[in-house]
Amino acid sequence: MSEKQDPFSAPFGTLFGDKMAVATYVDGEYDYPGAAVPLENFSLHPGTHVLHYASECFEGLKAHRQADGSVAIFRLDDSVHRMINSIAKLRMVPPSFEMLRQLIVDATTANASFTPDPPGSLYIRPTFIGTAANIGAAATPSSEAMLYCINSPVGDYFAGGIRPLTLFIETTMPRTTPQFGSVKSGANYVMALGPTLDAKRDHVADQVLFASGDDITETGAANFFLCDSERLITRNLDDSFLHGITRKSIIQIAKDMGLTVEERSIPVAELKAFAEHGELFLSGTAAVIAPVGNVITHGEHIQIGDGQPGPTTLKLREALTDIQTGKAEDVHGWLTPLESA
Ligand SMILES: Cc1ncc(COP(=O)(O)O)c(C=O)c1O
Repeated sequence: MSEKQDPFSAPFGTLFGDKMAVATYVDGEYDYPGAAVPLENFSLHPGTHVLHYASECFEGLKAHRQADGSVAIFRLDDSVHRMINSIAKLRMVPPSFEMLRQLIVDATTANASFTPDPPGSLYIRPTFIGTAANIGAAATPSSEAMLYCINSPVGDYFAGGIRPLTLFIETTMPRTTPQFGSVKSGANYVMALGPTLDAKRDHVADQVLFASGDDITETGAANFFLCDSERLITRNLDDSFLHGITRKSIIQIAKDMGLTVEERSIPVAELKAFAEHGELFLSGTAAVIAPVGNVITHGEHIQIGDGQPGPTTLKLREALTDIQTGKAEDVHGWLTPLESA
C-alpha cells in the first residue's frame, strides 16, 4: 500500500506496511538477522505443524503518531512478556525478551512512515508459528518455528466509529477452553467465532459477552468493564480470559483519577442493576474503549442509561488516548519512542 492510503476507509487490518522482521527457530536456537526485510509471501510445506495443529500465537499492540510528529509504541514491554508467556503455553521455547522486543521495534521502525495521524494508528502484529513439516506431531510441539512481525495502519475497529455497541450475553458456553483463555492463540478466536456470528444473526448484536455459569469474562476480542462516576469494576484475573494491556492501563488511569477499582467476579444480574445508573464498556488495543448501549440477556433487551456513551467512559477514553498520542504526560513510562520514525 502507499503511505497515503486512508485507513479509515479500509476495513481494519487490511492495509499493510511494506516491511517485516523475521526470526527462525531451528535446532533449538533462534536466529534473527537483526533487520527488517521487504514484506513478502511465505512458502510453507503443506504438512506444516501450524496448519494442522494450530501451533500459533500472536500479539496486538499499537504505535501512535505523537504531537511532535514522532512515533511511539504503547506498552511494548507488556506485550513482549505476554507473548513469551503465550509461546511457553504452546509448550514451545520462547525467544529472549530482548530479541523479541528488538524484532518488534525493527519492523515497526521500518514501517513507521505508514503511521496515520490520530485517531488512526499503526497496529503491530508479532506472530509465532510452528513450522516443522510433521503431520504426526499432534501431541508433540513443533520442532521448528518462525517468529515475525508485520504492521497495519488502522482506523476504527468497530465500523461506525465511537457508537454504543449491543452485546448478547452468552451464559451456556465459555469463549474458549478455560485453561487457555489467557493465551493469545488463533485457536481461541475461531472457537468464539460461531457463537458471535450466531448472535449477530439471531439477535442483531455487535459482540458476545461470554458469561458461562453466570460469570462474566470478556467478549471475543475485548475485556469488559462496568463504571459510574465513583467506581470501576472488572473481572479479576485468572486463566479463563485474556489479560488485556488496555485493561491494565484503564485500571491505573482510573486510580489516578480517584475512582475506586474493584477486580472481582461479576454476575449477570449486576448488569441489570447497573443499567439504571451506570455505564458499560469494552477495552482492547483494537477496540480502545468502546461504549456499550444495550445488552440482550435471556431474551430481554436492556438499555444502559440513555443508550449513549457515558461520561466516565468518555473521560477514561480521552485520558488513555491522550497518553498514547503524547497529548498528556506519560507519567507511567508506557511509551517507547522509535528512532527516525
Ligand atoms: C480476547 C481478547 N480479550 C481482550 C483483549 C484486549 O487486550 P489488549 O488490551 O491487550 O489489547 C483482546 C485483544 O485486543 C482480545 O483479543
